[in-house]
This record gives sequence, C-alpha cells and structure tokens, in this order.
Amino acid sequence: MAEKRPAEAGEEEEEEAPEERLELAFQRGFLAGRRVAHLPWKDLAETLRISKDSSPLLAILQKTVLHPLCMKYPPSVKYRRYFLSELIKQHECMAAEPLDELYEALGDIFNAEASTHCYKSYILPSGDSVTVRENVAIISQGTTGLVTWDAGLYLAEWALEHPSVFTNRRILELGSGTGLTGIAICKTCHPRAYIFSDLHQSVLEELSENIYLNGFFLQSECYSLGRGKCRYHEAELDESQGPCVTVAELDWNLGAKEQLAEFRVDVIVAADVVYDPNLTQSLVALLRQLPTYTDAGNLLEIYIASTCRNPDTYCHFQRALEHVGIRWEVVPGPRKNFFPYDQNTKITILKLLL
Ligand SMILES: C[S@@+](CC[C@H](N)C(=O)[O-])C[C@H]1O[C@@H](n2cnc3c(N)ncnc32)[C@H](O)[C@@H]1O
Repeated sequence: MAEKRPAEAGEEEEEEAPEERLELAFQRGFLAGRRVAHLPWKDLAETLRISKDSSPLLAILQKTVLHPLCMKYPPSVKYRRYFLSELIKQHECMAAEPLDELYEALGDIFNAEASTHCYKSYILPSGDSVTVRENVAIISQGTTGLVTWDAGLYLAEWALEHPSVFTNRRILELGSGTGLTGIAICKTCHPRAYIFSDLHQSVLEELSENIYLNGFFLQSECYSLGRGKCRYHEAELDESQGPCVTVAELDWNLGAKEQLAEFRVDVIVAADVVYDPNLTQSLVALLRQLPTYTDAGNLLEIYIASTCRNPDTYCHFQRALEHVGIRWEVVPGPRKNFFPYDQNTKITILKLLL
C-alpha cells in the first residue's frame, strides 16, 4: 500500500487515525535514530491494552526495522537492537503468543556487524526523504561535523515553511557538516545554486557522499575557498536538473573577500556554528567581509540557527556582531515540527543585517 503523504508546510493537515499517527511517530523517530526512550512507548502500551492484539506491533515493525529505507540505509546495529528489545518487552507485557517476526528481526540484527557509521533518514512533507550517513560517535576525528545537530534540523524545518527565501537563488552554507539542512533545502526549495562548505577533510568527504546518496550531482568534487586553489565556476543547468551543487573547503579563518564575492550568493545559512567563543571570532570576521548587497542589488540575507547551550557563548556571539556593526533580529521559528529532535532544546534563528 502506498504511504500517505504528510501535509505540506502551510497545508491543512488531514486528520490521521490514532493508530496511524502512532505508527508514523515510531517510523519518523526510528528512521532518524531518535533516542529510543523518546519514542511514544506509553501510547503504544495504551494502544495494545485497548486492542488486546499484536497487530499494532507488527505494523510498527513493518514501518521501522522492515521499512525499505531501513533495509537500504540502516540506523546503527546497537540502535536497532535496543529498539527491537523494547518492542519485544511491550509484546511480553501482553501475555500473548510469541511473535516470530519480532524474534526473527532481532536474530538478523544479532548477526549484523557493528560499524562506526550509521544512517539517519528524515521524511519530508512531500513524502520524499533525506538520508545522511553519520558517525556513531558525536565527536570523532576531532570534529563535530560528522553527525547532524538539532539546529540543522530546525533550520531545515524553517526553510520548508519559507521556500521563497531560497527559490531560484544562490545559497552558501557555512559549516554544513553532514549536509542535512542543505540537502533538504535542495530537495524542497528549488535554489538555483547551493554551495555546501566546511573545513575538515573527512567532513567534506562525508558531505560529498551524502549529496550523491540523495541523488544530486556535484559540479566539482571540492572547491577550495580561502586558499585560492581554483576559481568558482557555475555550470549552466536547466531547472529539471535541479540546483547546481558544489562542495567547498571554506575555513572561516581564511575566508577572503574576493573569493566570497566570487560566489555571488543571495543567501547565507548556517546551523550550530556558535558553540565555541574562539570560533565565533573567526565566524564574525568572515561575516564582516561579506558584501552588503547581492549582484541583483538586493540585501544579502543571512540566517544563523543556534542551539543555546551556554548563554555566555551565545551573548558573546551577539556582542561580537554588534561590535563590528552587524545588526540582527530573531526570526520566528518553524510553526510545524516535521523532523524528530528534542523539542525542549532552545534553538533560535537570527537574521543578520549587514
Ligand atoms: C556543530 S557542527 C554543525 C554541523 C551542521 N551545520 C549541523 O547543524 O548538523 C559545526 C560545523 O562547523 C564546522 N566548522 C568548525 N570550525 C570551522 C571553521 N573554522 N571553518 C569552517 N567550518 C568550521 C565543523 O566542521 C562542523 O561541521
């Protein structure tokens, strides 16, 4: 059976049946590798108590561990094992006949080899999905860029509700990490060109892989900005070929004015780049070099989404902006939540005014 398309941003949501809503909550959370404890187990227990049969468990198994996206791009072995053990616990509470399907799935996972990488998939409102390969460790190889952060998901959600900010425009993303935000924007907002950028070599490699994995063609493997290795050249693509996508090595410490101008961008985005006061200085210095106006004579638009972990670091960023004469305003966040992340985390988007 074809899966129901979730409501587009701004579209009236069709009322889902409670069981369907529960299955979707498990599916979205599981495919995105959301913490197992944060999945709606209480609601499932209540559904099982009322229905007194195992069919809701089987439906969830189909939509998670046996889902084609999971078969092709699985979350980590440890995650799938833990998730299935919890599903089995729910079944055991029912005092029903054993469900072979659950134990078979667990057996398959016990035979699977653990890896340092895993996949996370996010279902878009269109029903299409974004999948990114990530490292299982939050910080590895000395970088934070090999996993997707909540602010990146938040910014992607905001973009889904504001496609006109991106449509037919040239976008530069700073500190792209795994690429989730940019890939979601490329899939839904029809930018003319999208330049993903980061610093770390292994992040740039993973980023390029994730861009390919989601069906985009990279016009050049890696453009090096700030070191003057080559000039930016934008391929002429017609609309059906999608945006012109580039991965650039861009170190905020080295960002050079002429090379930034070469990109001729209309919009700059960045997510979770304000977490270390030392980095903040180089980020603000880079922002200061940007032209106020785009080639088309419009004001350059800059959106920065940040998780406010430490108020001092965040205030330091705001003060550093003010110090160099960059004004900012807080942009209202996304109205609708599509991607699973911790809703208690304080995330804000600043629009910078150069
Ligand atoms: C916390 S991660 C956020 C990644 C992604 N935007 C997200 O939200 O999932 C910060 C990113 O900034 C990049 N970064 C840190 N310092 C940088 C610098 N000096 N120049 C360029 N990128 C840098 C890191 O490599 C990393 O990918």
